Amino acid sequence: TDLYAVVGNPIAHSKSPDIHNAFAEQTGEDLFYKTLLAPLDDFEGEVARFLEHGGSGLNVTVPFKENAFRLADSLTARAQRAQAVNTLKKMPDGTLQADNTDGAGLVRDLTVNHSVNLTGKRILLLGAGGAVRGVLQPLLEQDPAGIVIANRTVSKAETLAKDFADLGRISASGFAEVEGSFDLIINGTSASLAGELPPIPVSVVHQNTTTYDMMYGNQKTVFNLWAEEQGAQKTIDGLGMLVEQAAEAFYVWRGVRPQTARVMQSLRNERR
Ligand code: ATR
Repeated sequence: TDLYAVVGNPIAHSKSPDIHNAFAEQTGEDLFYKTLLAPLDDFEGEVARFLEHGGSGLNVTVPFKENAFRLADSLTARAQRAQAVNTLKKMPDGTLQADNTDGAGLVRDLTVNHSVNLTGKRILLLGAGGAVRGVLQPLLEQDPAGIVIANRTVSKAETLAKDFADLGRISASGFAEVEGSFDLIINGTSASLAGELPPIPVSVVHQNTTTYDMMYGNQKTVFNLWAEEQGAQKTIDGLGMLVEQAAEAFYVWRGVRPQTARVMQSLRNERR
């Protein structure tokens, strides 16, 4: 039995063990997946001990995504771009490879689970932190008409736009200055945690707009409620992204792609 874990602090409430152990059962892969609480000042030591004791791979969550980026011996291209890491894999030669599966998870949830085609579409991305940086490359690979990044701190949006300019049409803006309407609006800010809304003009929503909140909870997020009031056609929360980034990590480790629909359904049922 191969051993995997999600490492973070805090970590007790992570849904990842349920998700991955369900994937293992479904695919017949002989593995067990648990939580790993790392001390805030010794992520590196905790990871080293886990690998010494036979661990094969890790998911990395708050607040260690940047530690993982620094710790890795090698980086996939998408992890390099993201400058943050959510998946570590022990390679056959014993080195540690880092990957970021968040963006692939978001794109797969949108395109496969929700049939939202991104090619040629106008996309507004709210926020310019790690969550947004992690999804830009996979979004741009879908060849959208353009991406506008809007953030409270405009300089951070400008930095991101510059860092990804070689991959597609991308520009930066403040919230109030966003112009025009969008086919897809993705909320990657942590404003929802405080029950707040990024102050964007209502004119960004048109009747065919889809919104995606990277957050999820028991109720519809404040952002998606707002979008619905403005007449958005479809509003999606981040539960699907959570399950799809896990499936992508499972694929990175095992070379087998699990099906996600049933796991997603049981997580949705749990919330009621
Ligand atoms: P994450 O890893 O979740 O992206 P982060 O790197 O701290 O976390 O980024 C948080 C993002 O949410 C940033 O874009 C932040 O805006 P600033 O760059 O201006 O700080 C945004 N954010 C946090 N609280 C917000 C609020 N109340 N309203 C609008 N944006 C907010």
